[in-house]
Formats: sequence, C-alpha cells, structure tokens
Amino acid sequence: MSAALTGPPLARDESVEKVTGTARYAYEHGEPGGTAYAWIVTSPVARGRVLAVDADHVLRDDDVIAVLWHENAPRLGDVGDPVLAVLQSPEVAYHGQLVALVVAKTPEAAREAAAALPVQYEELDHDVVLTPDHASLYKPEKVNPAFATDSEQGEPDQAFDRSPVRVDHTYTTVALHNNPLEPHATTAIWADDGSLTVHDSSQGGQPVRKTLAGLFELDPGRVRVLNPHVGGGFGSKGTPRPNVVLAALAAKVTGRPVKLAVTRQQMFSLVGYRTPTIQRIRLGADRDGRLNAIIHEVVEQTATVKEFAEQTAVSTRSMYAAPNRRTSHRLARLDVPVPSWMRAPGECPGFYAFESAVDELAAELGLDPVELRIINEPEIDPETGNPFSSRNLVACLREGARRSGWRPGPRTPGERREGRWLIGSGVAASFYPTYEMPASARASADGNGCYTVAINAADIGTGARTALRQLAAEALDVPAERVKMLIGDTDLPEAGIAGGSMGTRSWGWAVSKACRQLREQGASSVTANTAEDIKALGKKHTRGAYGAQFVEVRVNRDTGELRVPRMTGVFAAGRIVNARTARSQFLGGMTMGLSMALHEEGVIEPAFGDYLNRDLASYHVASCADVGAVDIGWIEEGDEHLGGAGTKGIGEIGIVGTAAAVANAVHDATGVRVRDLPIHLEDVLR
Ligand code: MOS
Repeated sequence: MSAALTGPPLARDESVEKVTGTARYAYEHGEPGGTAYAWIVTSPVARGRVLAVDADHVLRDDDVIAVLWHENAPRLGDVGDPVLAVLQSPEVAYHGQLVALVVAKTPEAAREAAAALPVQYEELDHDVVLTPDHASLYKPEKVNPAFATDSEQGEPDQAFDRSPVRVDHTYTTVALHNNPLEPHATTAIWADDGSLTVHDSSQGGQPVRKTLAGLFELDPGRVRVLNPHVGGGFGSKGTPRPNVVLAALAAKVTGRPVKLAVTRQQMFSLVGYRTPTIQRIRLGADRDGRLNAIIHEVVEQTATVKEFAEQTAVSTRSMYAAPNRRTSHRLARLDVPVPSWMRAPGECPGFYAFESAVDELAAELGLDPVELRIINEPEIDPETGNPFSSRNLVACLREGARRSGWRPGPRTPGERREGRWLIGSGVAASFYPTYEMPASARASADGNGCYTVAINAADIGTGARTALRQLAAEALDVPAERVKMLIGDTDLPEAGIAGGSMGTRSWGWAVSKACRQLREQGASSVTANTAEDIKALGKKHTRGAYGAQFVEVRVNRDTGELRVPRMTGVFAAGRIVNARTARSQFLGGMTMGLSMALHEEGVIEPAFGDYLNRDLASYHVASCADVGAVDIGWIEEGDEHLGGAGTKGIGEIGIVGTAAAVANAVHDATGVRVRDLPIHLEDVLR
C-alpha cells in the first residue's frame, strides 16, 4: 500500500445534517398519530421478587394502552442473555432492574403512569460492596472477551523478593458509567406480514437482528435494524440492550409502532458500567531500572444475573520485558447492576494502576520515568514470543517528551511553583490491541463516474462513514466526492460492530477490497468479504497501537483545586485515514481519561443498594472548562503486517494511560501519591 500514511482532514459527511438537526436518531422515527410510547419501570429494591402489579390502577387513564410485567408479557425465546430476557421472571437481582413497562398514547402519560404504577415486592438482603477479600470471590473461567484468567511466566514471587528495588502498592478505581449524549433508544414497527423493523441506537445492527430473531423466533431476514446516526456508545451500545427488546415487545402487544428511550437516570443501571477495581501491583527491578518481576492482581465485581469479567490485567502481560510475570483476575458476585463494556475495557483501569506503579518505580530508582519505560522496551512480545507487527512506543515517548517540553531526569516533586500554585508533569504509556472482524462490502459503479459503496457499518460519532468513503475513493482511484457511502442498515452487506477499536479497520478492509476488485474487474458491482484474508493474516505477530501521554497539572496549595492546563498525546496506530476525525477520537479518549482521573465517580450506597448519583448533575463528566489545551500527534507508521488498509484502530487508546499521567503529574506537583481514583481536593491537601 503506497497511499499516504495520514489521509486528508475531510469534514464528516453528515456534519450539516447533524448541526441542522435533520440527522434522525432512533427515537425520531415512527408514524405520527399511531405511535405509542413506552416507559420503563425499575425496581426500588436491590434483591427480591415482584409479588404483584396493579395495572388497573393506571389503565383507568384513557391514554394508557398497556402495562406489561412478568405475568402478562409474551414469552421470549432463549438467547442466553439474562439481561435481555425482559419481563420473564419475578426475580429482582439488582436495584434499577426493569420490572414493568407502561405503554401510552403520549410520552407524558407513559411517564406518569410508570411513576404511579403500584408494584409490590418481597425484599431480601443485598450485598453491593466490593472488598478485596469478599467471601464470594472466584476465578472466572475466562476474562473478556476470551483471555486466560491468570498468567504466570518465570518465578515472579522469587524474582520480586530478590529485586533490589521494589514497589508494592494497591490502586483502586470506582464504577464508571457510560453517558453517550443520545440515550439508548428504539422505535419498533411490526409490519402486517410479521416482519420487524427497529430504529435502534446501536453500535452494530447485526447482533441486534440476531438477538431479536432469537427472542421473537423469527427468521433473521425478517428483522431489519437501522442505525444511520448514533449519538455515542462507548461500548454501552455494543450489545443489544433491553430497550430494543421492550420496544419490539410493546409494539407486538399493542399493534402500534412503539418508541422507547431509556432515561438518563435509568442508564445508570440498565446499560452497563465499568466495574470498580482493586489492583495490587508489585514491580521488582535491578538498580539500573531493568524490570525482573511484574505481578498484577485484580479484584473486581460482577452481577448475580450475568458474569462480566473485565480483562483488567491482560495487556500488562505484553507491555514490558520483565522475565517473571504474573497476572490474575478474581470476581466478587454482588447484587449490583450488570457491569459491561466501556471504552478500552481492561486496558483503561489496568493501565491506570500499572502505569502509576511504573512511575512509583521510577521515583524509587531516581530515574526519568520516560527513560524507565524505554529501558524496559521488549524486542518481542514477552507473553507469546511473537514479533510485534510494529511497536513505536519509544518513538511516541520521545516525540511526546519533545512536544510537551518534558524536563529530562528524575521527577523532583513539589519543586515547581507559581505563586500559590504547585506545578507538575506526568507521563504514562498507552496501549490498545488491534482486532478485526470479517465483513462484507458492496461497491457499485453508478455509471456517471460515481460510485456507491454499501456496508452495514455503524458511525457512532467517530467519523467512520467519512473514513470509509476516503478508503473507497483511494481503492477506486477517484476523488472522494465521487463516492457515496451507505451504512447503518442490516439490508446492507453484513459487518461487525463499532467496538474494540476495530470498526473502521474491519469495514475499511472490506470496502477497500470490494472497490479494488471493482476497479480491476471493470464490473458494475462487486461484493467482497474479508473472512479468508483475516484467516490468512494469522497470528504470527502481536498487533497493537501504542501511545504516550504527557500531562501538566496545577494544584492550588490552599484549596487543593486541581487544573489540567495541558495534555499531550502521541500515538502510533498505523495509517491514519482522516487527520481531523482521528484527532477528534484521540482527543475524546484523552478527555474521558481526564474525566476518570478527576471527576467521574459512581458512588455505591450499601443500604440503598445501588449507585447514588444517577444523573449528570451528580455524576460529573469533564466539561469544556475542565479541559485545557490538548496537543495530539501521531507517528507516521507503515506496517505491512496489518493487512487491509493498514489501520490499527484509534477509538479506545486515547483513554488508556491518561488517568495515570494525571495522577503521576499530581505526585510531581505535590509529592502526594493518590492511589484511589478519582482524585479529590482533600487527597492533595493531605
Ligand atoms: Mo468499545 S467498549 O469496544 O465499544
């Protein structure tokens, strides 16, 4: 591939539609007049069972059409996901679990009836507090998506004990909740012929189609899922959610199109969240900084209804060249909402702890933390022994140090001041694995020098639609204006989800292939699939994106006020298809990482049995005023072992490492090492 390693900064194809409000989202469909509105009723008890629902009490309102609960809801097929088996059982396994659905002629009537619906519960004791020695701790069979739960190479304990320089600390992270701007929403419409159409806010229509087909016992071809515009997801829309099942169920029962949006408050219990973690890390090194031992032990939580095992320590296995390494994951089974995917699941909390520990080791050694990482750069993947397809962490560290004005040498905490402000800088490394999924794409010549390219990709705000059009134009060897992209519809050629940072990589591969074949064959339409290409690529190399983040913080000595005036992120993620949308992805990830470090905090309340803060007033997400200047750069990285269009994936790496860089900078500014996120003002005033 001789194409430029950084593609032109085209504006998003749908940018005018979005800013003029004409881009329609999942809730903005249906047939005015006939449409009904559904509202979810959730459990106020954390464990127990539903004894009775007094539907008649709300059905007296003429605007209320139906009330569904476990006793009257139609039976659903088994798709092996208890979260989607909605209204099938009286059991309540967590606070905020959905127990009933009200359908009405207006959203107001539905909301009012949902609030007034009398539901009787039997309430049982619950346990929602994660502790490092919880009695329910167990070793899951795998961690997500299918990694070994534990790993061990060499003799980590002995190597640690023998190391002249050691750090041994425990770090904790809290529950973090995905808050895409567009809530999870669906409009569901059954046709007279028994086929089902859903406009669903989803990171990928294919799994939604498959799930609905299984639940409603339909041929998948009879289910159509549309998601041309999606207002963010971060993983919470990577799998089908209860809203799509409930909307389809309500539409079936009432014979009307039904719209359903999960409220912001309900999102905190119904669409997954990142598990809190407790991570003990031990690093042992020689006096020159060479790592002998890495031990990373994780305790995290799952729900009783369904297991979710965050892969927190998995990427620690391949990061640095220590010969003796152990990682482990243990889960506590609690009466909590079901944790799920959130941007860089695993790497994000794992690298906060790991890259904080590396900084602590640098301080112990009296070394520049940038140099400590470079000293421990592995030649081959220490876990598998495979070569890296490309690994430019060192280049990212050096370029980031240069761009951010990093002062070489060991940190000297508390030394830099400006009036009442203490100033510090911190660094952390980032990593995210490169994945891919098979996909099909169709390229067609429209006959007038223009082309239409179709694939069931999902643009969740990343700019994927635009990037795919650029890749298509490149393979067709025509200007990008000549190409029209069709995405977000299960009637289009089959493709995987926008998740695991593999969307544009996987779809782009299929798009490039179809377009190249169309051009070479001179055909009018070609459909290409990448399953064989991905198989042929094999697993001979370790593939992943790397990055380095540099953060400057200012801490007020009197108030503890903490500001982040500057962040610098330099990444090595293969070819960058669109310089503008790529920058935006890195920037968004880093902002979310800053938010994790300083703001976001799901506060569990033991008696209440759930996270107390469940709106954007009490669950603080970083706002514009919290984010200073952010400088984004990348290494021009050609990698012939990636296949496809030579891209690695950029959606998640930006969040990895940011929180550690912030905490490390806070230490440099104040000399206070905060090991529990988020960092509060009172922590730095210690
Ligand atoms: Mo991302 S958590 O893989 O959607």
